[in-house]
Amino acid sequence: MAIRKISKMGHPVLRRVADLVEDPSSAVVRALVKDMIETMIDADGAGLAAPQVHESLRIVIFQAPPERASEEAGEEAFDHTAPLTVLINPVIEILSQDQEEGWEGCLSVPGLRGLVPRYTHLRYQGLGVDGDVIEREAKGFHARVVQHECDHLDGVLYPQRMTDLSKLVFESEFRHYVRVQAQDEDVGV
Ligand code: NI
Repeated sequence: MAIRKISKMGHPVLRRVADLVEDPSSAVVRALVKDMIETMIDADGAGLAAPQVHESLRIVIFQAPPERASEEAGEEAFDHTAPLTVLINPVIEILSQDQEEGWEGCLSVPGLRGLVPRYTHLRYQGLGVDGDVIEREAKGFHARVVQHECDHLDGVLYPQRMTDLSKLVFESEFRHYVRVQAQDEDVGV
């Protein structure tokens, strides 16, 4: 296992449509997935796509821990959270046209955060490393991280999904942004 170098915005591998994985159970794919997991954990990310480690293949990994689930989760908590998941050749089906905005960051866009609209409810399917079919519905942060990671497989980074670039901010200034926003809400503007 090894921690791999993360590609950053501007590298052509992040703009390419990644290739389908022809043999999901191959030793090469297994080794890549292990490295991706190690790299994501080392970088403290919620997800990682293979192009982010310079491999143009349709593989994503992600986790949607409970503490990042929406507060309204309630009995639907399973939809909002996901254990560490590996998806090979993932396919997304949007189940509601509703979108909501949320703050995102990306290991390939270090130091920045942006407010990104995403679909709130979807179903995804893909293969796990053992060749088993994984099919789940997702809402909230879970749905958001799946859309973010699968976008990487089509050469799309989150700033391209933003509708208001004034909401693209440095992480170092994010706390100021949130404070100003809270004050605005307090005075009702
Ligand atoms: Ni990303």
